Amino acid sequence: MKKVRFILLTLLSILCFGCVTQSDKSSSILGEWYGLKDGSPVTVEFKDDQTMSLDAEAFSGLSFTGRYKINLDVEPIAIDLILPSGMVCAAIISTSGVEEMELYGFFGMPGQIQRPEDVDKNPKRPDAIYLKLNRDKKVIEQKPKGVTPPKEAKLAFERNKRLGRGVNLNGLLDNNSGDLHLYPIPDQPIKPEYIKMIAEAGFNSVRLPVTWSVHSASTSPYTIEPTFFSKVDSIVNLCLQNGLAVIVDMHYYPYINMHYADPVLSFDDNIKRFYSLWEQIAEHYKDYPLELYFEILNEPNMELGAQRYNELMAKSIQLIRKTNPDRTLIVGTPNLGQSWTIGLLDLPKDDWNLIATIHYYLPHLFTHQGLAYAGAESSRGMQWTGTSDEKKAIESDLAYCAKWSKIHSRPINLGEFGVSEYADAAYRARYIGFVRKTAEKYGFSFHIWGFREVFRIFDEEAGKWKENILDALIPNDEQ
Ligand code: GLC
Repeated sequence: MKKVRFILLTLLSILCFGCVTQSDKSSSILGEWYGLKDGSPVTVEFKDDQTMSLDAEAFSGLSFTGRYKINLDVEPIAIDLILPSGMVCAAIISTSGVEEMELYGFFGMPGQIQRPEDVDKNPKRPDAIYLKLNRDKKVIEQKPKGVTPPKEAKLAFERNKRLGRGVNLNGLLDNNSGDLHLYPIPDQPIKPEYIKMIAEAGFNSVRLPVTWSVHSASTSPYTIEPTFFSKVDSIVNLCLQNGLAVIVDMHYYPYINMHYADPVLSFDDNIKRFYSLWEQIAEHYKDYPLELYFEILNEPNMELGAQRYNELMAKSIQLIRKTNPDRTLIVGTPNLGQSWTIGLLDLPKDDWNLIATIHYYLPHLFTHQGLAYAGAESSRGMQWTGTSDEKKAIESDLAYCAKWSKIHSRPINLGEFGVSEYADAAYRARYIGFVRKTAEKYGFSFHIWGFREVFRIFDEEAGKWKENILDALIPNDEQ
């Protein structure tokens, strides 16, 4: 009997000891942690009832309150963050001391997502998250250093006002078909009266996505086909004649924008071609009015990374300035061109005729519903009714950019936002109206995506606007 008691006691104490260490270990992650993601503050809190929250100041798409499951018996420590949507972040944690930890994981549906084995401090996948977290709140309290802008910094704000309200003229010159993208209809000419209708509706400008790479030679000096230049010219001229300012961009550019490689050019030659294309475009339009703007690259990808992107922009700006000293240039944010990475944008300090552009499509599953290329085919039917939480998310994301704009004395253009037409028309209009209103409150110019294709706001067959969307963009009482 004694022996049995002894064994029982020993077992109990082992179990208890196990309990203590387990709870000691897990209590070491409890409480608040602070870090920076893409240069903006993030607060993570783990509670002892297995709930947690992540709050990213610049990025509502990453903020959530959910649950977590932790396994301390494996090396590295495994943790699942479980989002209210059912999505999971399968992550690992590595701690150094009690003050610091690194969290690295992948988002996805349970069962379909593999936990990483090692921490990657510089992930290149959009579904990955890396956070270096600290107990000390000071890491997020440091105020970014503001700049004292020279007098000429005002000019870009004026030019941004000139852009005002605008439309993306997609599907004309961006070759958004075939191998490049999943939209089945190749570029089509536009009826000139539609350009007039854009101006008459009250829009001030258009953004013209152009895929220059497929209309240029694949060997140095990568000459742009003269017939293609004429095509672009005719649209640009038509817009200018109708009083619309025009942004010409570089869309669907291999390796560094979308994720495809060029079939013929290496990465390095592709970059050489990039500079050459901008030299040619700049030379070609150097005598055009200043109502023509250039946007250097649409949505840089994550493989390029922020540092190389900032360098690419700086060098391109220098090249363009040789022939276009006074033209306003537009530069997107690193790592996907969306709003939340604006903290990583590093514009040349000696050039003030620049506008920063952000794209905004949050919540992604709502705006891209029904679209397989965006991983959102199953979110069809998702609503956006304008609850205070839904509005708060947009408000705070754009407020973050407005704060950046103030600190850095650079104007902001919201170069793309919109909703796929698989969404209910009323929710679509409500969302678009709210984003537009919030952007304008902060003095951003905007371009809705887009005139054509699955985000379209115009019905070309009927020759008519989608009225409720036009109202959301240009409220009737203001026309
Ligand atoms: C980006 C892409 C474009 C896509 C749009 C909405 O501009 O370049 O192809 O249609 O975002 O997803």
